[in-house]
Amino acid sequence: MKPIRFDGQVAIVTGAGAGLGRSHALELARRGAKVVVNDLGGAVDGTGGSISAAQAVADEIIAAGGEAMAHGANVTSPEDVADMVETARQRWGKIDILINNAGILRDKSFSKMSLEDFRTVVEVHLMGSVTCTKAVWEGMKEAGYGRIVMTSSSSGIYGNFGQSNYGAAKMALVGLMNVLHLEGRKYNIRVNTLSPTAYTRMTEGLIPPEAGQLMTPESVTAGLIALVGEDAPERTILAAGAGGYAAAKIYETPGVYLPPEQQTGEHVAAALARITDPAGQEEYEEGGRQTLKFLGHAAAHFGIKMG
Ligand code: NAI
Repeated sequence: MKPIRFDGQVAIVTGAGAGLGRSHALELARRGAKVVVNDLGGAVDGTGGSISAAQAVADEIIAAGGEAMAHGANVTSPEDVADMVETARQRWGKIDILINNAGILRDKSFSKMSLEDFRTVVEVHLMGSVTCTKAVWEGMKEAGYGRIVMTSSSSGIYGNFGQSNYGAAKMALVGLMNVLHLEGRKYNIRVNTLSPTAYTRMTEGLIPPEAGQLMTPESVTAGLIALVGEDAPERTILAAGAGGYAAAKIYETPGVYLPPEQQTGEHVAAALARITDPAGQEEYEEGGRQTLKFLGHAAAHFGIKMG
């Protein structure tokens, strides 16, 4: 088995002062990467802040013989993030790997959720990932190398009660990955998504502590490492937890075509069983596939030849 090493590479891990980010940072460093340990150092809901969490992890890496620096950037602040990326570039010359991991929770049922709590969660998860990715993107393009990971969640991919803000932001990251994958591939920038489950302060009220012994951040980090090596996959949503690794995928069914006189809500409703029948469903590598499917049908209807 070829070892996955990061010697000579520079990685930024956001939200690395605790939980999964800490575990990712330690393992990247152990495998040779120089690591920017970013963390705002706030509470689970995003309030407060201190550099001490990030500094402790950076110190741990250095004590183990690795290279690291702490940075307290708030991932939602373009100025903070620019300073973090610039400081890392001045010290180490480039950024090869970005792990967008920072996150907060403000759970409430949609009825009770304020727009402010909705916006704040979207801001940290989605715009924080956008802001950090934007700050390293041009450098990766110029270098012809980059590995970027978004951190999604089953809450976004499938839905969890009380997490409309978090779920919306987490699924938006899949959309971001899908597009950046297409725009980055010719520069050897590979973009993937992790959907973790681990016992951290974020989940300590949900996961029984005994189960937590198996649901370690380190088990998730093994999946993360596979997403950022030189032979990394592209556009993969890797679900990881308790030593389990799976891929989440989106498929589209062949569907039905109704003649103009049947293009009514009632006919579509009557056809729903056939529309949702998974037989023959496909995974599309880009949105154009869906457009072409429908356009192809329309063109064939009128006998137009498609190029
Ligand atoms: P955690 O709360 O232990 O770590 C998140 C870290 O992000 C904290 O250290 C926090 O200070 C930092 N952070 C928050 N806002 C920040 C900001 N604006 N700028 C910089 N740093 C910020 O949580 P955990 O469990 O390690 O979560 C890591 C990621 O994994 C999050 O994106 C979370 O949503 C995601 N996730 C975790 C799951 C789990 O089972 N633990 C399940 C699904 C997703």
